[in-house]
Amino acid sequence: MKVLIADKADAICEKTLKHRGLEVVYKPGMKPEELKNEIADYEAVIVRSAARLPADIIEAAKKLKAVARAGSGVDTIDVNACTAKKVVVMNTPFGNTVSTAEHAVAMMMALARHIPQANASTHAGKWEKSKFEGVELTGKTLGVIGCGNVGSVVADRAMGLKMKVLAYDPVMNAERARELGVKMVPLDELFAQADFITFHVSLNDKTKNMINKESIARMKKGVRIINCARGAILAEADVKEALESGQIAGLACDVYSKEPATEHIFFGMPNVIATPHIAASTKDAQITVARQAAEQIADFLLEGKKTHAVNGDKV
Ligand code: MLT
Repeated sequence: MKVLIADKADAICEKTLKHRGLEVVYKPGMKPEELKNEIADYEAVIVRSAARLPADIIEAAKKLKAVARAGSGVDTIDVNACTAKKVVVMNTPFGNTVSTAEHAVAMMMALARHIPQANASTHAGKWEKSKFEGVELTGKTLGVIGCGNVGSVVADRAMGLKMKVLAYDPVMNAERARELGVKMVPLDELFAQADFITFHVSLNDKTKNMINKESIARMKKGVRIINCARGAILAEADVKEALESGQIAGLACDVYSKEPATEHIFFGMPNVIATPHIAASTKDAQITVARQAAEQIADFLLEGKKTHAVNGDKV
């Protein structure tokens, strides 16, 4: 059986699949039309976030039995189209948790102290000592929206920085909140009290555009926002307006509604820190997710075992 690795993945991915006796083709960077032609020949495909699998590509995948996402978000894959064709879709939800959480914390610190802006200014030979006055994190309130795998690690690190942590997560129960040491609050209370807000939710009908004119108006003036989840959680035009008015003091953004984002309404804004969807891009995380995705595909093709199948009950 043949497996296509359609995105850049650590070499451990190919090695693991071959070790399990599968034939592997490593072909990252294909254009959609090319992927559509190529995919016809494979029983399984492994992707990260660059190779998208919309319905027409799934339709063209005549032999496809399984898709693995070396990462957690499956919003780049048409899961319904896969389910309709009885193709199992699996992700690796835990492999990049710590890396993503650490990036969110790094972004929060960079926002608090204007580190990227101060770095660029100092390299340019300016000595703008008074321009870059920041704020302390100690004693400030962090609102964590989505307190699952990644959000709970961010909360833990923030408590280590002596921040107060409020969490909004409709599926978290009181016992889990106690275990984590966070205060579970309704969304409005989080908006009203948080100095910093960070998102760790997947993109769905409920979270799309959840940060918009109306929700921004309920936040503290001068709130700082970190988004390492999915770009479309923010209604980006509304956020830009709030950044201009000072209602939002700063935004640290790793994700965008359209990616790759080579142009964006946030780019060039003095109070925006932007990174190119790299929260999970550490050597450590990429080895883990690449190995896990390969093992999951091999387990499924060779033994029929489904691990972290997001449509497992339907196929
Ligand atoms: C994920 O969904 O796992 C992260 O956003 C990482 C990525 O897409 O590269």
